[in-house]
Amino acid sequence: MKILAFETSCDDTSIALFENEKLVSMHTKSQIKLHNKTWGVVPEVASREHANVIFDVLDDVLKEWWVMLQDIDYIAVTTHPGLVPSLLTGITVASTLSQALQIPIIPIDHIEAHIFSNWLERDESEIVFPLVCLTVSGGHNEIWYMQDMWSKEKLGQTQDDAAGEAYDKVAKMMWLEYPGGPIISKLAEEYNKPLSHPSSQRKKGKTIEKKPLFPRVFLEKSEFGFSFSGLKSAVRREIEKRIQLLSNLGSQESRLSIHDVQEISYEFQAAVNEVLAFKLLEAARQKEVQTLLLAGWVSANDDLNEKIHQEVQKLWLKFLAPKKKLYCMDNAAMIGILAYYKVKYLKRAYKIGSVTLWES
Ligand code: KG4
Ligand code: ZN
Repeated sequence: MKILAFETSCDDTSIALFENEKLVSMHTKSQIKLHNKTWGVVPEVASREHANVIFDVLDDVLKEWWVMLQDIDYIAVTTHPGLVPSLLTGITVASTLSQALQIPIIPIDHIEAHIFSNWLERDESEIVFPLVCLTVSGGHNEIWYMQDMWSKEKLGQTQDDAAGEAYDKVAKMMWLEYPGGPIISKLAEEYNKPLSHPSSQRKKGKTIEKKPLFPRVFLEKSEFGFSFSGLKSAVRREIEKRIQLLSNLGSQESRLSIHDVQEISYEFQAAVNEVLAFKLLEAARQKEVQTLLLAGWVSANDDLNEKIHQEVQKLWLKFLAPKKKLYCMDNAAMIGILAYYKVKYLKRAYKIGSVTLWES
């Protein structure tokens, strides 16, 4: 069974080819450089770029294995959620192909696909239900309880920004590039290196724990809501305070020093990740599950993985995140793997006009 999967929900044009559950080819054209200039994605610009490159990406996927379009058995495509103009490009191409080839099209939920990125390159039996999953990216920040593959309950979500969005906005405050998450986590790592610790923080060879610079916003600790807007304001105030201090000292410099940027990145990342990790573990405790999953591009954050890992080890729980960082980002492999399991287990096709649809 060959599945051709499309993902164009935001700023990546990604197409993947599956032979059953095996990913055989994937090509992705990222628009990051294009959106760098505007410090974020402009939907119309993204959609135009998807349209410009989608057939080249499709060509690359098919050519890699000399597969003909006629060999494909199923088409899968992200239908929601996402930026509507971007989604429409993928949906139009995918549904046109499905009509022309007279093969079924499987509509895919982007968030569900992020969760299923954990099944890529893993044996199905490795992931034991019931489980809880934290989906965290630029547009989403939720905790899910899944009794099995097809029944998921949302336990909570962000009341304002998603964590990734907060990373991006804090990066912008410090004049860093888009997307901010990978840059902030790198800067935070650099700050953490022993050499960059001021000697006053060390006593008899031991590092003295520094008081956190920013608040941890847990909201109701036993519930699963998130809020990052207060934290963002605290970061803004800290940046303004430090710049003011520079000016009081007579400096002409209106930007933070690299040390300040590293320290703020470290402190901000700790404030976000402690809350994310705490809530995921609290969900596992309340739901009495043994398996915890992480998904979405923020799941590529090493510090977040480390924080969750430390806690699950103490409790003998199983924690999994996508096997490769590539699978944390928006990608068509996660669309294809979810489509594979839908075909394997759901097999509910229905027709709209001349297009055969699969129930999602
Ligand atoms: O999954 P994604 O492309 O967006 C949605 O589907 O909504 O996630 C993008 C977000 C960006 O906000 C980016 O800053 C963040 O993921 N991100 C990270 C890291 N890598 C990407 N955030 C924190 N740490 C990272 N290493
Ligand atoms: Zn995504």
